[in-house]
This record gives sequence, structure tokens and C-alpha cells, in this order.
Amino acid sequence: MSKKQRQILVTSALPYANGPIHIGHLVEYIQTDIWVRFQKMQGHTCYFVCADDAHGTPIMLRAQKEDITPEALIERIGKEHQADFKEFSVTFDNFHSTHSDENQWLANTIYEALNNNGHITRRTIKQAYDPEKEMFLPDRFIRGECPNCGAPDQYGDSCESCGATYSPVDLKNPVSAVSGATPIEKESEHYFFKLKDFESMLLDWTRAGHLQPEVTNKLDEWFEAGLQEWDISRDEPYFGFEIPNAPGKYFYVWLDAPMGYLASFKNLCEKNGLDFDQWCKADSDAEMVHFIGKDIIYFHALFWPAMLHGSGFKTPSSIYAHGFLTVDGQKMSKSRGTFITARTYLDHLDPEYLRYYFAAKLGSGVDDIDLNLDDFLLRVNSDLVGKVVNIASRCAGFIKKRFAGQLSKTIHDEALLKIFIDADESIAEAYDSREYSRAMREIMSLADKANQYIDEHKPWIIAKEDGKDEELQAICSMGLNCFRLLMIYLKPVLPVMVEKSEAFLNIEPLQWRDAQSTLTDHKINSFKPLLTRVEKEKIDAMIEDSKENLEANGTATVNSGPLADNPLADEITIDDFMKVDLRIARIIKAEHVDGADKLLQLTLDLGGETRNVFAGIKSAYSPKELEGRLTVMVANLAPRKMRFGLSEGMVLAAGPGGKDIYILNPDQGATPGMKVK
Ligand code: MSP
Ligand code: ZN
Repeated sequence: MSKKQRQILVTSALPYANGPIHIGHLVEYIQTDIWVRFQKMQGHTCYFVCADDAHGTPIMLRAQKEDITPEALIERIGKEHQADFKEFSVTFDNFHSTHSDENQWLANTIYEALNNNGHITRRTIKQAYDPEKEMFLPDRFIRGECPNCGAPDQYGDSCESCGATYSPVDLKNPVSAVSGATPIEKESEHYFFKLKDFESMLLDWTRAGHLQPEVTNKLDEWFEAGLQEWDISRDEPYFGFEIPNAPGKYFYVWLDAPMGYLASFKNLCEKNGLDFDQWCKADSDAEMVHFIGKDIIYFHALFWPAMLHGSGFKTPSSIYAHGFLTVDGQKMSKSRGTFITARTYLDHLDPEYLRYYFAAKLGSGVDDIDLNLDDFLLRVNSDLVGKVVNIASRCAGFIKKRFAGQLSKTIHDEALLKIFIDADESIAEAYDSREYSRAMREIMSLADKANQYIDEHKPWIIAKEDGKDEELQAICSMGLNCFRLLMIYLKPVLPVMVEKSEAFLNIEPLQWRDAQSTLTDHKINSFKPLLTRVEKEKIDAMIEDSKENLEANGTATVNSGPLADNPLADEITIDDFMKVDLRIARIIKAEHVDGADKLLQLTLDLGGETRNVFAGIKSAYSPKELEGRLTVMVANLAPRKMRFGLSEGMVLAAGPGGKDIYILNPDQGATPGMKVK
């Protein structure tokens, strides 16, 4: 490998600021973080920046629903995201926001350059409009019957039932998901980026080694279909940046999202006195590397290089796309409990397990990767605990107890250690080319060799024999030298475990070049456990905690529509009914629950007693409108521990879901505590 000092700016895709980080996202952030840690260990100058993607309709609407400003929402979510990343050791050099001064500057600068060069055009188009809410509706906010198969309640752009894709005007009986009103068609002028102006530049660029081969092939299909003009404006109300000299028109979120990479870096440059232009102008020698998911290739491999090229900035050096995460072979699912947020994972398991597991699965291609929970447990326990940590724990005790922590002056098996040292280049090459699964395989095969060595030399037997002290010290020191090399090679993946090992070995933070040296005649510290075994019970508890369904979380949905669609349940006796103690309750407090998509936390006054209940009614009610209202609750339901706390009962509600959930609301004459009979 060339030892030339590289200057690399690395990014991961910017997470939307309207939801929590989940383990699917983490595939990408962990993949990138490993690469960055590796490059830094190599001594390259490498900056890893990211930001929250803060603009767009979903964020604006979610803030409205919570009765807060979008600024307050993105501030709160930004903090949550950063706390999650930190605990997973995803260590950005800077984390910023697309709703920032730097990004406003970039959006204006790039747009004006494109506009001045004639790459922007304007034209009036017709779009779905919500007459009640007085806003244009993105496709995702229109629901109706599928024009192909008739399935009810489908999105405006595609059907989840038959898979058809269509335009929202084709949807039958469309309704606005925002207000429930029937959308009308309305005209407005939009701004377009003329992507076709960049066709020949893009044809060259996409073949010049910046992309994975399978991505280049995919792009060829898009070139063949013809490059379309890209609609980059949205009408107010919108949360974003207003377009210069275009009152009431805003940049579409995807226009300023990738600019957020540079905005974050610019912010870092200002803080650290780096020269932004030297890194980012068209003639820069620095590398710009984007890690992204396969779903956002179009934006990154076509629009983004074209916009950069058209405005005098450096185009990306590499775009590395990865596949999607499945859990036990299926798409992550809330009902199966496999839609696991970073936070829920952290409540139960050590983040380094997941870092290792993803590394063991990741290659350089765009294939999906599967988190198989049984395999996860076996792999982490057998590789990390059984093989790697075991080497240290088998050798450390003797060195500490018998030799006051002192390692021997010589290496006991030079030939074996040479195998460890010589693995350096091949493992480095695997990391650099994102073949982490190959790197992990090579590292584990070295770990096997170290364990075989210890098995052969049996220090536990030699320890009992007279006059073999020197040999015992040499064997255990050899084992620890093997372990130290494994720590160097695993450091990009397991920074916390390696940091603990550095403390135990009493050494400076390991760099890649340290693989060429050995540790002899050196005093180590006592061994403390580096990693504990994954326990099945913890995985099960994490899945249980991730299940979010209406029944389980404090709202009994009486029925979900007309009788014909919802046949009555089996008949019950009066005795059955009497078992259910229904009471009038007053909602004295209603709050959002951090990290829950559907839940509100209600404090209910039962007339002398208060109850905490989590109810799945967030899609239909804002907390403020509930406070003070009466409702009916099941008061003698066994309390249930949820991931957010204890739920002590259920409130009754009816409706099919979404905005159509209605909590029962007794007349004001009723008082809390009254029994419903
Ligand atoms: N905000 C945009 C990206 C803008 S970049 C200028 C976005 N955000 S996202 O939150 O939906 O996704 C962030 C990244 O996570 C994307 O690269 C996406 O592909 C990736 N993933 C989201 N879900 C994923 C899985 N289930 N599996 C693997 N990666 C996933 O897209
Ligand atoms: Zn359909």
C-alpha cells in the first residue's frame, strides 16, 4: 500500500431530523466510522463530518403536531442523534445541521452559480393541493385506493399491497393525510435544475472509478431512460431556505441536503482554522468520500456531482453505497419487534457487539446484510469472547502474579509472531477497500493460531513445574504479543475494547505502524474483563421492548370500522364483562414520549388515585388538546412494563388508526373514579 499521506473528507448520509436512529442506519454509520478510524490509524489526515437533515414537509408537520417550532424539534432530535452516535463510538469530527448559516450560504452560492450559467429553468406545473390546510401535498401525504388493485389507504406514489407505482392523480378517492380533505389540483411555478446539461460530464464521471461497478451499471439504465429536469423548488408553507429572488419559493430538501456535508465541514474549518477552499474547490487534491445507502444513489451520483461541477466545487472522489439491513431475513418490522432503535439496543446490549457483527458481515458491494439474531449471539461469543479475549485472560494472570507484571525480554516464537506482523498489509488492504468481512476472517484466523500456540505450550501445566519460570514468562508474553497485534487490527472496529486493552497492556494508543514492533521487557497492568458474553435473555428483552402495537401499549381499540369489516367478537357472559372494571378518568397531563412514534404518555386522575398510561394515540391527538378531558379507562388491568416505563391501565378508543382514532369522551357531568356500568 502506498504510504503517501492522504487528505480525506469523509461523510455518512445525513439522518432525517424527524425520527430516531435505528440499527438500519447504524450499518452505514458504523461502516463509515470503521473506515475513518482505520485511515486515522494509518496517519492520514481524515475528517469525518455529518449533520442532521433538517428540512422538508415531514419535519414541518411533525413540529406542528407537537405544537413546537421546527427549530425546537430539530434541536431536540439533533441531541438525541448525537447521544446515540456517541454511545456507538461513531465519532464525527463535526456534527452540524442543514438548517445552518453555512448551509444557507452554500445553497445560495451553488444555486446562483448554476442559475448564472443557465442551468436553472422555470415552468408552471399542476400538483395536488390541500384546500383546507392550504398547502401542496407531497405524494406521501396523499392516501387513497390503488388504481391498480383497489387496495384502500395507499400512498400517493405506490401501493404497498400490489407494488404498483403511479401518480397521485390516478389514486381513487384521494384524501389528504394532513387534514382529511379531498385534494384539488392547483398550478404553481417551479424551478428546475437542467440535469441534461451535464450529461456528457456525468457519463465520463460515472465511469472514472468513483463508483462501485454495480452502481455504474445501474446508472447506465438511468442514462438510457434519459436525464430529466429536477424540480428543486417547493411552495410555502415549507421548512427550508427561501430561494434568492423568489419570494414564497423554497429549496426542496434534497437540494440543500448534500450541501450539508460541506456545511458541516465549513463549520469545522471555521472552528479549527482549516482552509475550506483548499479542501473543496475544484482543483483540490483532497479526497471527498461519501458513504450512502443504495436508496439514495440517484441524488449522490447524478445531481450532486453535477451541481458541484457546475459551481466550481470539487466533485466526489468516491461514493460507496451499501445495502439494506434485514433482521432474521426480513425487513425491520415494528410488530415483530425488529425495528430496533439505537436507544433500545443500548438499553440491553453492548454497542461493540453490533460493530463487530456488522464488520463481520460487510463487504464492498451493495448487497443487503442480514442481522440474524442467533448468529449474532454465536458469532460475537465465539469470536470475541471465546477467541480474542480468551488469549489475554489465559496469559495475563501468570504474568501479573508470578512476574510482577513484567513481560519477557525476548519473543518465544519469532516465526509465529512474524505471521501476525506480516498480516498487516493484507488486513490493511481489506479495510481500505471496505472488505471488512475479509479483514475479520483474517484476524480470527490469527486468533485461532494464538490459541493453538497456548494450547500446545500449556502454561497452566508449566506453571506447576519447578525451574520453568523463564519458559512460563516467555510463553505468556508471547501470547500477549499476539493479543496486542490483534488489538491493533481490531481497533477500527472495537475502539472501546481496544482502549481497555491499551490500559491493561500499559501502552500508548495503538497506531497501525505499531504492528511492526513488539512488546518486551515491559510492565503491564492487571487484566480486567474486556467484554462479556452476549446473553440470549437480553436479546429477547430488546425485541420485546421494540414491539409497539396498539394492544400492548395502553389503548384498547374498540373496533376499527364498520361492522361489516369488523365482525363482533365471540359472545361473553355478564360475569366476563363484570371482570373488566371500567372507570371515568380525567387526563390531567399528556406528553410526548421520546423515541416512540405512536405513544403519548397520559397521567390519569381516577378520583383519588393517579395512573400512568401509555396510549397509542399520538397520530390523532396533540397532548395539549387532551389535557383536562374526561375519558374511560380499564382500571383493573395488570400493569405492564414497557420500554418507556410502566403502563397502568388502558384508555378506550375507537377507529381504524392514523388520524382516525377517537378516545371515548364522557359528558362533563361524569367525575373521575365513577364506575362505568
Ligand atoms: N436524509 C437523507 C439523506 C441525505 S444525505 C445528503 C436520508 N436519511 S435517512 O435517515 O432516511 O437515511 C440515512 C442513511 O441511512 C441513508 O444512507 C440510508 O440509506 C441509510 N439507511 C436507512 N435505513 C437503512 C437500513 N434499513 N439499512 C441500511 N441502511 C439504511 O436518506
Ligand atoms: Zn395496489
